[in-house]
Amino acid sequence: MSTRVSSFHLDSFLQNVETRSLTAGIVGLGYVGLPLAQLFTSLGFKVLGFDIDQSKITKLMGGESYIGHIPSSVIQNMRKDDRLVATSDFSWVARADVLSICVPTPLDKARQPDLTAVRKTAESLVPHLRPGQLVILESTTYPGTTTEIVLPILEKSGLKIGEELFVGYSPEREDPANPNFTARTIPKVVGANDPASRRALEAFYGAVFDQIVPVSSCEAAEMSKILENIYRCVNIALVNELKLLCQRMGLNIWEIIDAAKTKPFGFQAFYPGPGLGGHCIPIDPFYLSWKAREYDFSTRFIELAGEVNTNMPYEVVARVVDHLSSQGIPSSTGRLLVLGLAYKKNVDDCRESPSIKILKLLADRGFTLSYFDPHVSGYVSHRYGRLPGIELRELTDDVFANTDATLILTDHDAYDYERIVRLSKTVIDARNATRNISADRDKIILA
Ligand SMILES: NC(=O)c1ccc[n+]([C@@H]2O[C@H](COP(=O)([O-])OP(=O)(O)OC[C@H]3O[C@@H](n4cnc5c(N)ncnc54)[C@H](O)[C@@H]3O)[C@@H](O)[C@H]2O)c1
Repeated sequence: MSTRVSSFHLDSFLQNVETRSLTAGIVGLGYVGLPLAQLFTSLGFKVLGFDIDQSKITKLMGGESYIGHIPSSVIQNMRKDDRLVATSDFSWVARADVLSICVPTPLDKARQPDLTAVRKTAESLVPHLRPGQLVILESTTYPGTTTEIVLPILEKSGLKIGEELFVGYSPEREDPANPNFTARTIPKVVGANDPASRRALEAFYGAVFDQIVPVSSCEAAEMSKILENIYRCVNIALVNELKLLCQRMGLNIWEIIDAAKTKPFGFQAFYPGPGLGGHCIPIDPFYLSWKAREYDFSTRFIELAGEVNTNMPYEVVARVVDHLSSQGIPSSTGRLLVLGLAYKKNVDDCRESPSIKILKLLADRGFTLSYFDPHVSGYVSHRYGRLPGIELRELTDDVFANTDATLILTDHDAYDYERIVRLSKTVIDARNATRNISADRDKIILA
C-alpha cells in the first residue's frame, strides 16, 4: 500500500528506523502503554514514557511496577542503561522521534465519548513538536478522531502534516494476561492519510511487530478496532441471552457451547458471564453509536447488546436471591462471600467490572457481604471507592463457615476451587469455574 515518497525528514526518519537509533515516546503508561514500552525497549529502542500521573513516573523510575501481570523485575530490566526514562515533563517530547498516544477514552456521564485525555495530550505535544517526528494515536475511538480532533490540534505547531510531521492511527490489541500472545506477535493494523505518514508508520511498526496490516486511512484503522470490539460485545450478549433461556429450559449453556464449538468452521465460542467489564468492550461500541448519529444511522445491534449485557448483573442477583430464599434465607439475614472483583480472570483491572455493580445490588437487598480477590486485594476500595462489605485478605475456613453461599464472579486461576466447593454451603458460579470439580456437584448453582 506504500507509495514511493521521499523528503529530507522522511528519509532521515526511515534511516533512524533502520539503524534502531530513534527514541520512541509513549504517552500514557497504563495497561496498553507500559507493555508497548516493554516491547520497544526489548528491540533496542530508547523509550521516553510520558504520563500525567506522577506516582506512576516515580514507581517506574524506581524500578517498580503498578500493573499486576507485569513484574517489577521487568521494569528494572527496562530501566537498565536508562533504556526507559519516564517523565511528566512534556518538554522532553522534543527528544522523541515517535510519539505513541495510549491515553484513556472513556464515556462521560451521558455515555458519550470523552476525548478529554486525547485532546489534552495533543495540546501538550504541540509546543514541543519538531520536524521529522511521527505521532501515532493508539487509543480506541470512533472513526474520524485522528483527522477531526488530533490533526487540527497538531497543526497548531506550524508543522506541515505529511511533510514535516507524520501522523497515523494504529489500534492496540493488547489482551492483558493472555499467555498465548506477546505484543509483538499480535498483527498491528496501521493507517494514515498521506503517503509520507503511511511510509513512516509502516516502517517503524514494521520494525517492531512481526506483522503489520496496512489499511487505506486513519478512519479505516479506527473502524477496524471498533468492529473487533463490537463483534465481541454482540456475541457475548447473544450467549448471555441464550444462557437465560437455557436456565429457564433446564439446559446448561456451557455444555451446549462446548458441543457447538466442536464444529471445525463457522462457529467461534463466546461465553456467558455476570456482565461485561474492562475499559474496552462495554465502552468502545458506544463511541461508534455516538458517531453514527451524525450520519442519521442507528446502530441497533450495539444498543441491543448493551441492553442485554447491562442486565446481566441484575440476573445474577435475582438468581442469588431466589436460591437463598428457597433455602429459607431472606436477603436481610443472608451472608454472602463474593469471589472476584476484577472484570476478567488473572488481572487486577476492576474498571467497569460487573462484580462491583453486583456487590452494590446485593448490599441494596440487605445481604451481609465479604469479598476477596487475590489480584486486587488491599487497594480496591482505595481505587474504586468504598465497596459494601468486608474486604478479606485471605480465605480462611472460618470465612466459609460463616457464610450462606459463595458467589464466584471472576474465575481466577489462583483460587483453589476444590477447597471452595468443599467448604462452601452453596456455590453460585457465574463463570462455570467449578466445571472440573466432581465432588459436591449438588452444592453448585450455575448463574
Ligand atoms: N486495557 C486494555 O486491555 C486495552 C486494550 C486495547 C485498547 N485499549 C485502549 O487503549 C487506551 C488506553 O487504555 P489503558 O487501559 O492503557 O488505560 P490506562 O488508564 O491503564 O492508562 C492510561 C494512562 O494514560 C495516562 N493519561 C491520562 N491522561 C493523560 C494525558 N493527558 N497525558 C499523559 N498521560 C495521560 C493515565 O495517567 C494512565 O496512566 C484506551 O483508549 C483503551 O480503550 C485498552
